[in-house]
Amino acid sequence: MERYLVRGAGKLSGILPVHGAKNAALPILAASLLCDGCELHNCPRLSDVDAACHILNHLGCSTRWQNETLLIGAGDSRDCSIPDHLMREMRSSIVFLGAMLAKYRQAKLTFPGGCELGPRPIDLHLSSLRKMGVCFEQQGDALYCSVPKELHGASIDLPFPSVGATENIMLAASLAKGDTVIRNAAREPEISDLAGFLNAAGGCVHMEKDGTVRIHGVEKLQHCTYSVIPDRIVGITYLCCAAITGGRITICNTEPNHMRAVFPIFEEMGCRLSIGSHEVSLQAPERLKAARSITTMPYPGFPTDALAPIMALSMVARGTSIFTENIFQNRYKQAWELCRMGAEIRTEGRIAVVRGVEHLHPASVICTDLRGGAALVIAALVTEGVTTIGEIRHIERGYENLPAVLNQAGACITVE
Ligand code: EPZ
Repeated sequence: MERYLVRGAGKLSGILPVHGAKNAALPILAASLLCDGCELHNCPRLSDVDAACHILNHLGCSTRWQNETLLIGAGDSRDCSIPDHLMREMRSSIVFLGAMLAKYRQAKLTFPGGCELGPRPIDLHLSSLRKMGVCFEQQGDALYCSVPKELHGASIDLPFPSVGATENIMLAASLAKGDTVIRNAAREPEISDLAGFLNAAGGCVHMEKDGTVRIHGVEKLQHCTYSVIPDRIVGITYLCCAAITGGRITICNTEPNHMRAVFPIFEEMGCRLSIGSHEVSLQAPERLKAARSITTMPYPGFPTDALAPIMALSMVARGTSIFTENIFQNRYKQAWELCRMGAEIRTEGRIAVVRGVEHLHPASVICTDLRGGAALVIAALVTEGVTTIGEIRHIERGYENLPAVLNQAGACITVE
């Protein structure tokens, strides 16, 4: 199994371009099932995107890369099911459910198991789709979905602004009969990107300021060309690599407005930020100060996916930080591996307390999830010696060529 060998190598500096957003590309790839083909620019080359392409291929669509553009050819498979091995390849494959119901009015898939972040229920997906005329029958771990009468619009109030549930409702509603209103919908930028793609293909989706999404079902969607937004979590991760090493980097091809909830934390830790239209520069202090309290919330609050990268910074900051995770149960799974590097982290349920130490030491560690793996890389940049990081498949789900990108800025990472 491949591993990263990370040698602490001093301050990072340079200009790092940010690639397309994994969490925007995945629902858009599901939506591409409904179009007459599409060209997707700025699509990230990640293992999760490969998994989504495998599902599209299984459903009869062709997929072909042309540099950073993914060309998707319309297809029509009579097999409206996602085999278990493809569901297991990527837990968020559940986002294909709404698209399959819109296209086939039926679907068969297996329940998405839990993942590294804890159980991943889909009760909000199912209860919302039921209101649109979908019936579900569970047989073992298989879920049989059908539309006995018609797929129709509905008025849906989400008790929690679930990203996945919002996406599945939007996808099903795009070709349903009539209008759908989603109140308390997720407001992540990736949701707006899905709406942008659907509208580019001839759909009719309106995002309102108060988190309401209105969709008018149309007859069919056309071929379209679209460009995926930059990945805000990848951008934040790169900034963390500069912050922990006392360096100075500029991230470009990015959307600063998508990251604003994290900027005050960088500034509280002593970093100086310069924010442009599509770039952000960060100048780190010699040693970071601890940010007192970090609490994750749905967008536009502090993103849960940024918790682990920021936790890596707090491990060597002067002072103590208290983290409160409000989105996922197992967000602290990586803490034990970080402690093997000398971090002082105590967790209790949704709370983690991190007391900053002067130095971390090299260790042999393994990734337990995508963003936890990124935190291991960030921490390893300031250890004296070589840290070995295993199970890097987690990192490769969401970061394109991370070692090469960071080495350009002065890191010393080899893959073996
Ligand atoms: C999406 O996950 C992202 N994944 C996650 O990114 C991200 O952390 C999360 O949104 C929050 O922003 C993708 O977009 C592929 P949710 P998702 O539905 O859709 C509970 C990464 O690192 N819930 O908003 O699964 C759920 O258990 C990944 O890139 C229900 O209880 O997020 C969780 O505790 C990690 N019932 C919380 O809501 C449901 O029916 C948030 O889930 C649905 C969700």
